Amino acid sequence: MTAGPPAPVADPVTEPTAVAVPAIELRDVTRSFPGPPEVQALKGVSLSVADGEYVSVTGPSGSGKSTMLNVLGLLDRPTVGEYRLGGVLTGALDEDERAALRARHLGFVFQAFHLMSRRSVLENVLLPMLYNGTPRAEREPRAREALERVGLGHRIDFLPGTLSGGERQRVAVARAVASRPRVLLADEPTGNLDQATSAGIMALFEELHTGGLTLVVITHDADVARRASRRIRLTDGRVGEAA
Ligand SMILES: Nc1ncnc2c1ncn2[C@@H]1O[C@H](COP(=O)(O)OP(=O)(O)OP(=O)(O)O)[C@@H](O)[C@H]1O
Ligand SMILES: [Mg+2]
Repeated sequence: MTAGPPAPVADPVTEPTAVAVPAIELRDVTRSFPGPPEVQALKGVSLSVADGEYVSVTGPSGSGKSTMLNVLGLLDRPTVGEYRLGGVLTGALDEDERAALRARHLGFVFQAFHLMSRRSVLENVLLPMLYNGTPRAEREPRAREALERVGLGHRIDFLPGTLSGGERQRVAVARAVASRPRVLLADEPTGNLDQATSAGIMALFEELHTGGLTLVVITHDADVARRASRRIRLTDGRVGEAA
């Protein structure tokens, strides 16, 4: 046998493998906040989300939804249990490796938006693309396109503080999708929107889902939850499948 060139190192998140690897896999994850009093926001949660799946997460206030999304988004670590993102065991990674994985593969819509107040709407949407390998020439066209999609083409030079709550939310959605992540995590993405604007955001999500995006959307809105192909319900830190 002749020795061939060394096999290229596969990016475990993007390379196809023989066995379908779930996009997201939580195994017996508990997240406790020490307190006092100690709060177990997640209690032994196991969840597997297939590549390209569209999952909604509902549950009462305080049931652990945002805590779960923070773990999925590598912004927080389980106190106990394992989290695999695209097959990669994330607990073994250091903070730099987690940040790189996050920039490359994840998009976020936070419950509190987290926009940079001194940066324009356009700059806010451009920012994630500086860190995820988007070619320089593509960044601004993509940012503008995403802002047009959420109906904010006329607000690109505004500062976030001068926008309405619903407009800020739409900037957060544009920022999350412009970088074309493989997995989109959204915490109440339509919480401040009227029905028509909300429907526009849901249509955008569905289009991205059809294109292969894996979506996890937290929502209090039953109509938004129904649009997902799979529904998860959190109750007091425990997960169940909803009807
Ligand atoms: N940093 C923290 N320190 C202490 N307790 C926390 C922290 N973050 C969350 N918790 C607690 O964990 C529980 C779950 O909070 P979480 O934010 O995940 O709820 P949620 O389901 O997103 O609620 P909502 O629908 O109101 O956004 C709550 O009881 C909350 O007080
Ligand atoms: Mg929350």
